[in-house]
Amino acid sequence: MIVYLDNSATTKVRDEVLKDIIDINENYYGNPSSLHRMGLMAEKKIDEARKSAAKLINAKAQEIYFTGGGTESNNIAIFGHITNSDKHNNIITTKIEHPSVYNVFKQLEDKFSVRYLDTDESGKINTSMLNDMVDENTLLVSIMHVNNEIGIVQDLNEIKDIIKGKNKNTKLHIDAIQSYGKIKIDVNKLSIDTLSFSSHKIHGPKGIGGLFIRSGLRINPLTYGGGQERGMRSGTENTPGIIGFGKACELIYDNFEEETERLYSLKNQYIKRLTEEIEDIKINCPIDGGAPHIINVSFKDVPGEVLLHSLEGKDIYVSTGSACSSKSRDNRVLNAVKLSREYQTGTIRISLGHFNNFEEVEYVIENIKHSVKDIRSITKRG
Ligand SMILES: Cc1ncc(COP(=O)(O)O)c(C=O)c1O
Repeated sequence: MIVYLDNSATTKVRDEVLKDIIDINENYYGNPSSLHRMGLMAEKKIDEARKSAAKLINAKAQEIYFTGGGTESNNIAIFGHITNSDKHNNIITTKIEHPSVYNVFKQLEDKFSVRYLDTDESGKINTSMLNDMVDENTLLVSIMHVNNEIGIVQDLNEIKDIIKGKNKNTKLHIDAIQSYGKIKIDVNKLSIDTLSFSSHKIHGPKGIGGLFIRSGLRINPLTYGGGQERGMRSGTENTPGIIGFGKACELIYDNFEEETERLYSLKNQYIKRLTEEIEDIKINCPIDGGAPHIINVSFKDVPGEVLLHSLEGKDIYVSTGSACSSKSRDNRVLNAVKLSREYQTGTIRISLGHFNNFEEVEYVIENIKHSVKDIRSITKRG
C-alpha cells in the first residue's frame, strides 16, 4: 500500500483531469490565437476553464489570468503592484510567507522600506502591528491565506478592514495557493486586489496557475510578447494545462463542503491518535479549525529526516517541512512561531488530499509509532 501524505507539496492528478488533458492533446491542439476553427475551439475551451477557476473565489471570468504556476502568479502580482513607485513607499508582508513571496520582498529591500509582520505562537499575524505599519505610503500588503507548513488560516476579513481602514489605496495581495479549493474565498467581500492560486495543489496538472486581478486594476506584466492572457502573460497558452486545471476546479466546486468535512475528520483522526498514542510530541497546526489538509507535528528526540526516511521504507510519504524549505536547516516558519529547537528538528508535515482515506490511518499511525520508538531507542541512548 502506498500512502501519499505530501499533498501540500503537490498532488496526484485526478482521472477525470487526465482524461481531459488527453482529449485536448488529441483533439484541440490548435493555437488559441489562430483565427481558424481549430484555434477558436481551443480558445473556447480556455474560456470555459477560466469560468471554472473564477467560480471558486466568486470572481468574474475576465478577472482570471492563467500563469505558469503559483510562484509566477505571486511574482507578477507583487512586481506588478509596485512598478513606477518611488523609494518613499513601503511594502508589508509576513515572516511566514512562502519563498515565492518572501524572497521577492527580500529582493526589494534596496528599493523600498520593507516591513515584516510577526506572528503569535499559532502563526496568526500580529494585527496591532499591521495596524501600526500601514500608513499613507504603504503601497502593498501581501499575506498568505493558509500557511503551507503549519496550516494556520489568517483572518482576511479583519486584515482587509485594518488595511483599507488605514489607507484605502493600499493594495492587498493574497497568496491563496494552499487555501484555493479548500476554504471558501469571496474576493469581493474581502476586497482583495490580487490573489494567486495553483493547479497542482488541487489535483490538476503542474506548471499552471492563476492570478485574480480585480477589474479596473492596472498591473504591469513581467513578460512581453504576443499579448496572450490580455497582455498579462505573453506566450502560447498551455491549453492542456489550463483545461486540466479547469476540470480540477469543477470537480472541487461540485463537492466542496463534503470534501472539506471529510478532510477535517481525517485530520482530526490523525491528531487524536498521534496525541493519545505517542509521548513527547507537539502539534503545531491548529487543532480546531485551521486548514483541513495540513497536520504538523514534532517529536522530541527524533530527527525529522530520519523519521521521513523510515516511513518512506513503508511506502508512507510525508515531508519535514515545505518541499521548498526542506533542504535548508533553519526553518523560518517554525522560528516565527517560536517552536523550541528540541522539537523543531523532529518536525514532519502530513498533508492530505482527495485520494486519502480513513483506512490508511491505522497503517500510518502504527508505523509512526514503531519508527519513533526505534529512533528514540538510539537517540536517547546517546
Ligand atoms: C503557500 C504557497 N505559495 C506559493 C507556492 C508556489 O506554488 P507553485 O508550486 O505552483 O509555484 C506554494 C507551493 O508550495 C505554496 O504552498
